[in-house]
Amino acid sequence: MTTVIKGGTIVTATEMMQANVLIDGEKVVAIAQGSAQTWAEGADRVIDATGKYVVPGAVDVHTHFELPFGGTYVSDNFETGTRAAAYGGTTSVVDFAVQVKGETIRDGFDNWMAKAEGNCAIDYGFHMIVGDINDSSLKEMQAMIDDGVTTFKLFMAYPGVLYSDDGEIFRAMQQAAQDGTMIMMHAENGIAIDVLREQAVSRGETDPKYHTVTRPPQTESEAVHRALALAEVAGAPLYVVHMSAKEGVHELTLARDRGQNAFGETCPHYMHLSVEDDIDVPGFEGAKYVCSTPIRFRSEGHQDALWEALARNDLQVVSTDHANFFYDDDETLGRQKRLGEGDFTLIPNGLPGVEERFQVMYQSGVVEGRLSLNRWIEVCCTAPAKMMGMYPQKGTIAVGSDADIVVFDPNTSFVYGKDTIHGNIDYTVYDGMEISGKVDTVMSRGKVIVENDNYVGDKGHGQYLKRGMNQYLV
Ligand code: URP
Ligand code: ZN
Ligand code: ZN
Repeated sequence: MTTVIKGGTIVTATEMMQANVLIDGEKVVAIAQGSAQTWAEGADRVIDATGKYVVPGAVDVHTHFELPFGGTYVSDNFETGTRAAAYGGTTSVVDFAVQVKGETIRDGFDNWMAKAEGNCAIDYGFHMIVGDINDSSLKEMQAMIDDGVTTFKLFMAYPGVLYSDDGEIFRAMQQAAQDGTMIMMHAENGIAIDVLREQAVSRGETDPKYHTVTRPPQTESEAVHRALALAEVAGAPLYVVHMSAKEGVHELTLARDRGQNAFGETCPHYMHLSVEDDIDVPGFEGAKYVCSTPIRFRSEGHQDALWEALARNDLQVVSTDHANFFYDDDETLGRQKRLGEGDFTLIPNGLPGVEERFQVMYQSGVVEGRLSLNRWIEVCCTAPAKMMGMYPQKGTIAVGSDADIVVFDPNTSFVYGKDTIHGNIDYTVYDGMEISGKVDTVMSRGKVIVENDNYVGDKGHGQYLKRGMNQYLV
């Protein structure tokens, strides 16, 4: 099967050019300026991209499908979550498989493989959450490299659930340093946060906004600082996930300026939502926006700081941390966000975004003048692929790369709302946001999976991605 995408403007992290793309099977085999006519004559399919951008399929390296959390499950499974991702122009995800206490890492990996295999619309890989650090799980970290798992997430938050203490974290970092793998850190001081939560509840402060109040920026920045210091001593690379506080970004920037192999991601919700506008609102609606690290107070200036850090490469990746829970009770999953009515500590943490990320970042980044077109592609496609060892197979348009390609129309607009999303969820956090541009056609490994606003792919088309090491390491 050969496809020609003709007449469009190809945008990668480093280039912008009028050229045509020739795809043979699953790969890009040629990019040229004048061959469209000849190629089109022998091609099985021609996609006319005149007036449109031709960009790499987006790469989301932080999703949670079917994750058990807070007494329920994330409402998107691998089938619904990856299909929603495809609608939004995302063609690769890296999800988190979980090793819980008493299990081996291999058990966790096998469990998550069983959930994903045969169900995904797009290609998928796994990080491992190491929830039980001991001599044998440390050894297993090395063994997972052969399976394409090269990144391990640890939690300084959630005591009694996924939390690891500093000794455990340090030992895992030493192991990663020895193996050449990377630690991903959920950096929040969970012990101090638990004290604040208990005290808040005992004072009757139970509304959703107290989720943020009991996770002040210092509980994030202290943990970022500590994680960076431990990683420096261990000689391990560190990737800090879902950063929301400007103070934490400052710690990361200092470490990077010192030359440390340290990296950070943020998520679109931290740059668009605030306690004032979205969480501290009448009733229980604020629960929709409860996640950790939390949405912060707009008045404290975190949003501008995150945008600046992204533009300056102090932050490198935009992911979603997609972990959605129904706001109103669902027929199948029952009570989700509303589990926390009357007690914010029981609201399941997380919100949707896997479908919206790429287009929301185009609107607020490119259209509104905060990021160049190239930087939009870099933070949503290329940097995530390089960070997680998938480049140039993923994250760019180049000869030899997988033909994961989005034709993006900058001249069509739409408004996000309940009717324009496709995941297993009853709300979008971008409700009412107008996007001046739209994903038009999505290809995954040479196959069109979205066109004319319809998903035309197959469940099970997505293949497991064996990943290599972080390609930014020096
Ligand atoms: O609120 C969040 N972030 N939920 C998902 C789990 C995690 O910590 O990434
Ligand atoms: Zn986390
Ligand atoms: Zn997460």
